[in-house]
Amino acid sequence: MNSKVIDFQKSKEKLMNKKFPNISPIIPEGKQPYYLESNKALDKFQTILFDYQEYLLDKENNKEIKLEEVLVYYNRFFDAIYKELTKFDDQKIPKFKEAMDYAMLSNGKRLRPFLMLVTYNFCEGEDFLLIAPMMVAIELIHTFSLVHDDLPCMDNDELRRGKPTVWKKYGEDIAVLVGDALYMEATNLLMDMVLEFLYTEIGSYVATSAAIMLKLAGLDGMITGQVFDVMNTTNNKLTVEDLSFMYDKKTTALLTASMIVGANMSSLYNGKANYIEKLGVCLGESYQIKDDLLEIEQTTEKIGKSVDSDKNNNKITYVSKVGVKAAKNRLDNLFATSLDIIDKMTTEKNKKESLVFKELIKYLMSREK
Ligand code: IPE
Ligand code: IPE
Ligand code: MG
Ligand code: MG
Repeated sequence: MNSKVIDFQKSKEKLMNKKFPNISPIIPEGKQPYYLESNKALDKFQTILFDYQEYLLDKENNKEIKLEEVLVYYNRFFDAIYKELTKFDDQKIPKFKEAMDYAMLSNGKRLRPFLMLVTYNFCEGEDFLLIAPMMVAIELIHTFSLVHDDLPCMDNDELRRGKPTVWKKYGEDIAVLVGDALYMEATNLLMDMVLEFLYTEIGSYVATSAAIMLKLAGLDGMITGQVFDVMNTTNNKLTVEDLSFMYDKKTTALLTASMIVGANMSSLYNGKANYIEKLGVCLGESYQIKDDLLEIEQTTEKIGKSVDSDKNNNKITYVSKVGVKAAKNRLDNLFATSLDIIDKMTTEKNKKESLVFKELIKYLMSREK
């Protein structure tokens, strides 16, 4: 990386003034605000997000806005922060940067960073640029996991997000390296941020957030889930408990990390940790069950990835184990529990934000891709 493009000075000042009034932060001198594209994209996204909140609060008296419209602006914001935060000197390997961008700037839902942002907003975090590097980092980690997941030696998939998978387009060697690079860039972004804030009052929040994300991406989470998955693909002795363990690790871990980081970077994590973790379990399990169901019920065009992947790999999933009906019942229960948890965390102060959170959960449960 030649430079970090987002300047934190303003973010830091705002944050310090707001939540730590007695502290005089050490702010690096001479930084210029050069995060122009991200800033512009953020303005537009925030405007529609806040209008959306108003609309949800009082549907009678406000113009209708759909979550999908908000997501259009969110995606533009995400693209801008991704581009600004992952610049590096690629003169000698231009094709490689193209392959990384091919993976990152495709038609993914960018759910994990969105979940982080919605949780941050819900926990009264106000400065979205402050968490931007963490949003990019979690999506880098998620995309790395998918690039490797699709390789011939793993799920052997040729289509992802409506396009040929990275290995199919650029070759297996480059796909392995793209995965490696995405993952390492995520850790670099996190480390840059830890160093940037090291001697400020929010240093410990930044460091714990980074540590949690990496832990849940690694052997305490996603990697263990993927290992368990490839080692048991066709093991028909797998029990529902085994599947639950697998989903908990391979999918829940990163979704939970997104929310914990969003909450941790705001000032309201204390007292909410239990709820956030329970919500992570509900959303993670339901997200993976829904993913399995989509493969059975949707078309390849719609979901942008093969609907025959599990079948071709003779894969045991929760749905193949308990049947579609029982899986849908489970989904309904998880949905109700998730909304209930949000209600328990809602106060007069974060009512608007909680409505957005609930809409996001509804959208996840009823998604068609
Ligand atoms: C796919 O994740 C893998 C699972 C953990 C279910 P997403 O459904 O979030 O995939 P993208 O990022 O939108 O492509
Ligand atoms: C992928 O799980 C989960 C991770 C990469 C962590 P799957 O293999 O079930 O997901 P898809 O169907 O390829 O997206
Ligand atoms: Mg897999
Ligand atoms: Mg797969």
